[in-house]
Amino acid sequence: MSQPTTDSEAIKAAVQAHYGARIQSGSSCCGSGGSSCCGGEPTELTLYGAEALALLPTDVVTTSYGCGNSLALAALQPGESVLDLGSGGGLEVLLAARQVGPSGYVYGLDMTDAMLEVARRNAEKTGASNVAFLKGDIESIPLPDQSIDVIISNCVINLAPDKGQVLQDAFRVLKPGGRFAVSDIVFDGDLHELPVSEDELRGALSWAACFAGALTMANYHQLLEAAGFEQIGLEVTRRYTLGELRAEGSELLNGLPAEAAQALEGRVTSCAISARRPAYEQGVQQACAARLFYIDYIDTSQ
Ligand SMILES: C[S@@+](CC[C@H](N)C(=O)[O-])C[C@H]1O[C@@H](n2cnc3c(N)ncnc32)[C@H](O)[C@@H]1O
Repeated sequence: MSQPTTDSEAIKAAVQAHYGARIQSGSSCCGSGGSSCCGGEPTELTLYGAEALALLPTDVVTTSYGCGNSLALAALQPGESVLDLGSGGGLEVLLAARQVGPSGYVYGLDMTDAMLEVARRNAEKTGASNVAFLKGDIESIPLPDQSIDVIISNCVINLAPDKGQVLQDAFRVLKPGGRFAVSDIVFDGDLHELPVSEDELRGALSWAACFAGALTMANYHQLLEAAGFEQIGLEVTRRYTLGELRAEGSELLNGLPAEAAQALEGRVTSCAISARRPAYEQGVQQACAARLFYIDYIDTSQ
């Protein structure tokens, strides 16, 4: 059984090579082969609905590698500024751009040149003028502090070696009160209950297919909280069967004892993850609480 790769630069290079090759070969998760995308299978149509996609050219719609619909969670409003972490071919950026309208703005951030090229071409095809695609690492977002209303992301954070750093940087760029609305692959339950070690389990899964690097629900919650987020929610939107996990490429489940593979059934999920940066920072909250206490005290002591 192989051990999971822990070298973060090697992971990023492998992810970049994988998604660069996918977009250059013209295959989306839902295209032929169906191997090694984020969870595979769900089509753009089932994720976003015919109405939302009707206004986009077909070749734009099919450059999708997601495992959920972060836009449904985001409930974007006209005028909002949005950042898509790991924007891929740009589908969610372009859908978001329509929702926020001309007074809003949407950034897509991705580290893979071939993805950025396709995303920029897709933006041109749709005539979107309120979008920009930036090259960079989601662990170090190239945007100023408190500049974004909503962060969206679809099946990307699991691919980052340092997820705590991603969530801290997401918090940094959000405005106070800003929303985090993400779809991601997440393990449901405690991995220590499985009949193999966590290292063996992760070593048998594919990183690029979004499984080997996935957090547990409890870890995700902890890291969001540690970054400063509140109103945290994780909701399972899909559970992968063993057959679906196996369909995701030859390295997946490679060498895992049958009993351990069986125990994975239903534990690998797509989740809708929501959180919010507090509208007031802690110091301000404390000052407000102290002032209310003082007013109350004056009132009752007279
Ligand atoms: C599974 S695809 C999802 C793309 C897109 N969100 C979608 O739904 O189609 C993952 C994307 O995240 C990008 N990515 C992965 N890790 C990244 C990182 N650390 N920084 C920036 N982009 C990253 C990849 O280049 C790829 O385009």
